[in-house]
Amino acid sequence: MGRFRDPQDPLFQALNSSIGFDYRLAPYDIEQSLAHARMLQRSGIIGAEDLRQIEQGLAAVREEIEQDRFVVADGDEDIHMAIERRLTEIIGPAGGRLHTARSRNDQVATDVAMLVRAHSLEARTLLHALMNTLVELAERHLDWPLPGYTHLQRAQPVYLSHHLLAWFWKFRRDSQRFNFCMTATDELPLGAGALAGVNFDTERMFVAEELGFRAIAENSLDAVSNRDFVLDYLSAAATCAGHLSQLGGEIVLWSTSEFGFCRVADAFASGSSLMPQKKNPDAAELLRAKAPRIVGRLAGLHGVLHGLPLTYNKDLQEDKEPLFDAIDTLELCLRVARDMLAGIEFDRERMAAAASDESIAATDLADLLVRQGVPFREAHGIVGGVVRGAEERGKALSELTADELRELAPALPPDGFRATLEQSSWLESKVSEGGTALARVKDQLTAARDVLSEA
Ligand code: ARG
Repeated sequence: MGRFRDPQDPLFQALNSSIGFDYRLAPYDIEQSLAHARMLQRSGIIGAEDLRQIEQGLAAVREEIEQDRFVVADGDEDIHMAIERRLTEIIGPAGGRLHTARSRNDQVATDVAMLVRAHSLEARTLLHALMNTLVELAERHLDWPLPGYTHLQRAQPVYLSHHLLAWFWKFRRDSQRFNFCMTATDELPLGAGALAGVNFDTERMFVAEELGFRAIAENSLDAVSNRDFVLDYLSAAATCAGHLSQLGGEIVLWSTSEFGFCRVADAFASGSSLMPQKKNPDAAELLRAKAPRIVGRLAGLHGVLHGLPLTYNKDLQEDKEPLFDAIDTLELCLRVARDMLAGIEFDRERMAAAASDESIAATDLADLLVRQGVPFREAHGIVGGVVRGAEERGKALSELTADELRELAPALPPDGFRATLEQSSWLESKVSEGGTALARVKDQLTAARDVLSEA
């Protein structure tokens, strides 16, 4: 081509070419080109006949791509050149007019912004389905007690519905983060040209409206160098994958014989090639393991962008593979998480048995003393002594005799003591807003359903 005398070295081509992975920008590239061509015609930069041919030609290229008939040629460095090359083969010289007042620099930024927006929307849709499943599960397991944990030690009992809804709110925040990603892709880069603007008074807002952007990027230098929206997507995806990882980790733990709180459906488990008795929760394990991969993509892109001078640098081509991989990984994980949860079975008895460990009523006993006027700190010490005393006698708290109780904690009223050791009372006493008492969980469910219906 014009400037060059010698052909490119094949090794350089292998390094430089992005067609192997930016192929998936094709639908956005074509949509963008159609809007750009319409704008060129409106602005009197190309004629009506040129536009007609370009529209026809792009439709033909789109069909080839959709039907997997599109053939990449040797010299096609990236998807933008491949589409233009094919367009020109089909319609002739008019194809060469499409790139007027446009550079691949503003073109690629626009394609990637469109793709990020589409997949932020997809992430929200998938999160919505997952949140919906969590609400359904919470409704089905409204009053099933299980121990709540801190430090993975039994802490205080909670209802399974309350526990499941905790995940709901985490995913709700993820959804809000993807909302923000959509805002971050709201300004159209196209029209910035290579970096400085173009030599035509183009109607950028027309293109913005055609492509669903709310506004145009105000500064051409910023527009071609901006990849913040890719970082935003990767960051939202990393946090979301982190939540899926924690959820997966918990299901792995709960599926062990030691816990026995749940069983994942056969459809999401595998056997061992050696041990016939095994049923492994692989899906949950892989949810657990995928998060660092997405975090790695985020860290990698931060590395690529670090220290880059304005404006476009070829380094920016390295935004795509991490982004595409994160999208594919996250969307698959969200689908799996939803379907796996939908088929999970909880073991009411195992959970209730674990939650009936009386020592987890210790805080409630301390609060019983508080109601008698004992300062909480002091009550904490007294009940600690009762727990230790019971342990030393090899007894459960409720097995302590009235005499033993009097000896260990004279301030504890025996009737109140026994009533407090009723399991349901530990749960139903958590009446504060956002707590596990059934009435509060029901409020929470209403709030969760409202979130789902507003989205
Ligand atoms: N394939 C390139 C990318 O992904 C497109 C932009 C190329 N621009 C350039 N000036 N060589 O970044």
